[in-house]
Amino acid sequence: MNISIFGLGYVGCVSLGCLAKNGHNVVGVDVSQTKVNQINNGLPTIIEKDIDVIIKEQFEAQRIRATTDFKEAIFNTEISIVAVGTPTGPNGHLNLDYIFNVANNLGEVLKEKNDFHIIAIRSTVMPGTSDKFAAIVEEVSGKKHGKDFAMVSNPEFLREGTAVKDYYNPPITLIGSHFRDAATKLASIYDQLPGEVVLTDVKVAEIMKYVNNTYHALKISFANEIGNICNALQIDSHSVMDIFCKDKELNISNYYFKPGFAYGGSCLPKDLKGLQTLAHDLYIKAPVIESIDKTNNIQIQRVIDLIVSQKKQKLGFLGLSFKAGTDDLRNSPAVVVIETLLGKGYDISIYDKNVQVSRLTGTNKEYIDAHIPHLSKLMVNDIHEIMDKYEVIVVNNNEKEYADTLATWIGTATIIDLVRIDERVRQKPVYKGINW
Ligand SMILES: NC(=O)c1ccc[n+]([C@@H]2O[C@H](COP(=O)([O-])OP(=O)(O)OC[C@H]3O[C@@H](n4cnc5c(N)ncnc54)[C@H](O)[C@@H]3O)[C@@H](O)[C@H]2O)c1
Repeated sequence: MNISIFGLGYVGCVSLGCLAKNGHNVVGVDVSQTKVNQINNGLPTIIEKDIDVIIKEQFEAQRIRATTDFKEAIFNTEISIVAVGTPTGPNGHLNLDYIFNVANNLGEVLKEKNDFHIIAIRSTVMPGTSDKFAAIVEEVSGKKHGKDFAMVSNPEFLREGTAVKDYYNPPITLIGSHFRDAATKLASIYDQLPGEVVLTDVKVAEIMKYVNNTYHALKISFANEIGNICNALQIDSHSVMDIFCKDKELNISNYYFKPGFAYGGSCLPKDLKGLQTLAHDLYIKAPVIESIDKTNNIQIQRVIDLIVSQKKQKLGFLGLSFKAGTDDLRNSPAVVVIETLLGKGYDISIYDKNVQVSRLTGTNKEYIDAHIPHLSKLMVNDIHEIMDKYEVIVVNNNEKEYADTLATWIGTATIIDLVRIDERVRQKPVYKGINW
């Protein structure tokens, strides 16, 4: 395919060489005459393992060239990849000026170009940038998004130092677009690459680099704080983290990666507090670890605010324990929510199958009687007592019984879902997820 790439920095130079090596004809566009000259002399614009050989080889095979003339480049290609810089601006947001300059360039040229054109944003941008880019192109060119051109978000995941290796071994190829045909056509330029091709919504694709890189920064900072605490205790931090990484069930896995309600239970809050106190006693600063329970408290307050904002007094809770399948009420965040709302005068009933059984059999009776006798009085024996009487139903546990009952229930109460209960319930007209 004939492809133009805007920006000949790390991302652009690597894409230029690697796409050409996979058989495409690629022209690089940059405002820097020096970078354009480098490419046109068969030299890379960056220092990066293997890229010098690839650029030389592809230049000699006449599959790559570069220009400052964006008009000529856009006219002679069917896909334009945008890989210009998006540095941090003065207020902390990404500076998208270079991106929108390219939008103006494309608009100018597409005004005169009749062939359909695909524009792929490879740079890291804020969610909403593709749509804004499309609006600029439409305004400048008078052409229609989806009919004359299509935007595609296609974030780059390579790392400097291993950029060529990363380009040829992406964990996934991510493509977001409003237009399926454009997404599929763009995906075809990466046909030779391994890894799953993920087609998704534009804004999902756009936010992924923020999410990935923030998580990578969090991993490094977490490991460093654990290292600092271990070091103060004369424990080998690398042995600790090597063993940590061997647990592929809970540690290095997708477990616990579902947005939703706060954590609770007898272990996470207790052991986190223990480690925070240990770090404090050792005079080790560990702000990442110290802020974990603050984030958790914010999630509890978020639920209280969401319920209060409904302006309804009668609340029914499905689930009181900290997760489905247990009667353990120790540090259950739902208990905090209910106690706060009781203090504000709300009329509350609770149905929890597991806690109900333990009340009847006496297994958890001691805890209930000692710690939450006031909540025990609010518990009902039949889920329908909640469904029929209350104006807001809060789903706190992902129990099949709750999903099945809610799915077939016809009522007017608002459902507030803290656990992403199944699809049938999420389709209900008055439904609110905690963060979806
Ligand atoms: N460097 C990385 O490892 C990496 C990895 C993944 C994603 N990204 C993202 O990719 C984007 C590019 O990063 P980079 O490191 O390659 O940037 P870079 O600064 O190395 O290169 C950007 C290039 O764009 C050129 N440019 C600016 N305005 C232009 C215009 N109007 N027309 C043509 N060219 C123009 C500049 O002259 C420069 O050569 C950024 O959004 C970055 O966050 C970077």
